[in-house]
Amino acid sequence: MPEPLEIFWTTAVRATDNARLVKLTLSKPRRKDPATPRNLYARAVEIGGEGQLQITHRYADREEAKNFPPGEGMDYLREQLATVYYNGDLFTLDEQLSVMQSRKGNARLRGEPARHEEVITEHNREKYRDIPADRPYLHALGIATVTGEITAGGRRKYKQINKFVEIVDGLVRQQPLPEGAHIVDMGSGSGYLTFALYDHLRHTLGLDVRVTGVELRPQLVEKCRAIAADNGFDQLHFVEGYIDSYHPDRLDMLIALHACDTATDDALYKGLQANADILIVAPCCQKQVRRDMEVPADLKPLLDSGILLERQAAMVTDGLRALYLQGQGYATRIFEFIPLEHTAKNVMITALKQDKGYGDGAQEKWESVKERFGVRRHRLEELLEKGERGEGEKGGRG
Ligand SMILES: C[S@@+](CC[C@H](N)C(=O)[O-])C[C@H]1O[C@@H](n2cnc3c(N)ncnc32)[C@H](O)[C@@H]1O
Repeated sequence: MPEPLEIFWTTAVRATDNARLVKLTLSKPRRKDPATPRNLYARAVEIGGEGQLQITHRYADREEAKNFPPGEGMDYLREQLATVYYNGDLFTLDEQLSVMQSRKGNARLRGEPARHEEVITEHNREKYRDIPADRPYLHALGIATVTGEITAGGRRKYKQINKFVEIVDGLVRQQPLPEGAHIVDMGSGSGYLTFALYDHLRHTLGLDVRVTGVELRPQLVEKCRAIAADNGFDQLHFVEGYIDSYHPDRLDMLIALHACDTATDDALYKGLQANADILIVAPCCQKQVRRDMEVPADLKPLLDSGILLERQAAMVTDGLRALYLQGQGYATRIFEFIPLEHTAKNVMITALKQDKGYGDGAQEKWESVKERFGVRRHRLEELLEKGERGEGEKGGRG
């Protein structure tokens, strides 16, 4: 198979396996004939709890949709692109690729597959199973009834917990944690994600890890400590205080989900200082950059409205965070970790420590982004600069 086609199909299969496919279309039929659909449109759907590939055949006068098990659906599409259509377009959460074939059989690719640290294939990936609803801490947290049914009010949270634990599950398989690893959840709040993560890593995966939640609200810390004690979770601790004044002895995986504004930067900085293997943040209310950017004159007509400026500032904040992490030698990914109907705060940044030399050239990129969007300062960059000068961090209260 010509290389462009091979890259196209490898990327499509990986996106399907990892639930990251948005759509795949085949178009430009080789023969104009009413019996041949003008194009095929494929998307992932869930039917009776099973993932399926729904392929819609679009004829001039009608549409017909058929559902396939994902592997079979991909084989069918592959065969259709080889025999019936010239063009294929793939949209995933990470990339956009197009393949164009000529009449002579040459293939050309437009776009690039996203960088993946390791291709996760069926044989090296065990299917993640949801945290059982009858785990007693889920009841103590108010997500499940005493008999282990998820409550109506707990459904969204349960879905979010599982999605989060599934992501971490994938990351620790990709970048295994060292023996005795210390995982810190900064801004742990009510502890929903902290408990589920601890339970999954220690009891389902059998990893020798300890987990600490850091939270500034004392009543939440007390409640979480009580639930941990009731469940015999002796390697799960909760510490009361601000992220920036917490100094762990070691930190192998940093988590900060929905920590307000620059608290995300404080948490990332803690992870970087500790040389953590894995960093996971889901930022929230990115206010600092918005205050500290001067929109260049040519962008003003675009960013005139408050909401667009806010979204742009959030995007720049998170894009810069990823670039600073790359500059520190981490491979990053930014993606939507849960559909918008479950939470408005759904962007996640993950970062995995790479070998020396990774991320050279990131500085040029972040400087050009800062200049383009008129960003005067970014909290994470300031912390890193202070760290380099040996001044340590100064208390920011997010
Ligand atoms: C929106 S909640 C998120 C809780 C949890 N991580 C989750 O995603 O379900 C944010 C939590 O972070 C805590 N928080 C915010 N800034 C903090 C800081 N600088 N230090 C410690 N905790 C902080 C807040 O008290 C709050 O409980």
